[in-house]
Amino acid sequence: MTDSKKAPARPALKAVRGTRDLLPDQTPLWNHVETTARNLFARYGFGEIRTPVFEATELFARGVGEETDIVSKEMFTWEDRARAASEKPQTLTLRPENTAGVVRAYIEHQFANSGALQKLYYIGPQFRRERPQRGRYRQFWQIGAEVIGPPSSGSESPLRDAEILEMLATLLDELGIRGWQLELNSVGSAQDRVHYNETLRAALQPIRSQLCADCQRRADTNPLRVLDCKVPEDQPLIDTLPRIADHISADSRAHFDAVRAALDACKVPYHLNPRLVRGLDYYTRTTFEFTVTTGLGTQNALLGGGRYDGLSEMLGGPRAPGIGFAIGEDRLILTLQAQQQEDARTSGAASANLLDAYIAPLTPAQNPAALALARELRAANLKIEVGDGSFKLRKSFETANSLARHIILLGEDEAGSELYTVKTFASGEQVKVPRANLPELLAGV
Ligand code: HAM
Repeated sequence: MTDSKKAPARPALKAVRGTRDLLPDQTPLWNHVETTARNLFARYGFGEIRTPVFEATELFARGVGEETDIVSKEMFTWEDRARAASEKPQTLTLRPENTAGVVRAYIEHQFANSGALQKLYYIGPQFRRERPQRGRYRQFWQIGAEVIGPPSSGSESPLRDAEILEMLATLLDELGIRGWQLELNSVGSAQDRVHYNETLRAALQPIRSQLCADCQRRADTNPLRVLDCKVPEDQPLIDTLPRIADHISADSRAHFDAVRAALDACKVPYHLNPRLVRGLDYYTRTTFEFTVTTGLGTQNALLGGGRYDGLSEMLGGPRAPGIGFAIGEDRLILTLQAQQQEDARTSGAASANLLDAYIAPLTPAQNPAALALARELRAANLKIEVGDGSFKLRKSFETANSLARHIILLGEDEAGSELYTVKTFASGEQVKVPRANLPELLAGV
């Protein structure tokens, strides 16, 4: 076939908008974050739970709330085919968050029967159809945890709230996240919310027509959600609305004060934010977010969480108060990467991801010896890449410089004498070393 008769080339396929591949130069940091989190959770008595990535749509409608942005606009939902003609087709949804799924599992597996407090953590992908931007994806990862149990297990205690917040502060410190800020609020009990909603509804009436279309609807259906509004023009008006903190009961106030006292005792700093009602309907009493200043731009909420004392009943389960959080792992990684770049700029330090050495055979005849040397050095726990004897020396040096801290030249002389020529890129130093001394030299900086 001549060129002109060839079928047109097919366009290359790409990852779907809002999803991305995590490549080998990124995954070590992801694994480090996940291992650090798993180790820390174990120290606080948490066990791992893995729930399905899709659930019945009704779980999120009932748990997260019909009027929330997540449920009303952002879910990936489809109708599953009915298995039999007599069955109604089921509507399914890719999980947009995992608290509802964990509480569903808590009910389904009758955890309440043991009477014990359950401490559960999860790491996994979540899905929301949001407008993608830096730090906001349609498939994103969360590292989350939930503490839930019957009231007799102490699940309502302010100690549990403070322990979660103290654990998060410890995790961020262990990971080296700098400059985090804990924003804290109480949205009161479900009963307090009924009263506050009425107060808010009344206060919204005179300014309703000046708000965005979404807020005009929320003013009727779910006034609390007006406080989540991000439209800049609405903000000055929303700031004039009554504050939830001034409308919570004495019990809720005492609970919040106890959370704050325990945080003070642990020396965990926080900032009171009376507008922090969070975008999900299940929250009661304590709500919180951790924000950072580096790397995230406008999506500066690294993680969020709070108490959900009525969620189990909303999902048809027994009374089981709980509290939990979810960290946006993508955002955590972006923050760490931005910090690493900042550090490299200030100290001139090289990237931590470099291999220990690149072995450059000088002719194809040295390829087998190069591979044998790589096998030996890798067994000594060194990170090694092997070039090819057909490469020009200049190309070997360029590749080595971009990948590794050292280059080992392997010519006929070296293979015969067991003395290797090694160049260290950072210092520019070149030395000849016996094979036995290679691991020590390469492990050094
Ligand atoms: P959330 O605030 O909706 O809470 O999400 C928690 C975190 O997930 C956010 O702070 C953010 O870091 C990250 N996140 C959310 N959406 C995206 C996105 N589109 N792209 C990247 N990251 C995102 C919850 O999900 C609750 N289930 C937390 C919780 C657990 N409350 C109690 N227990």
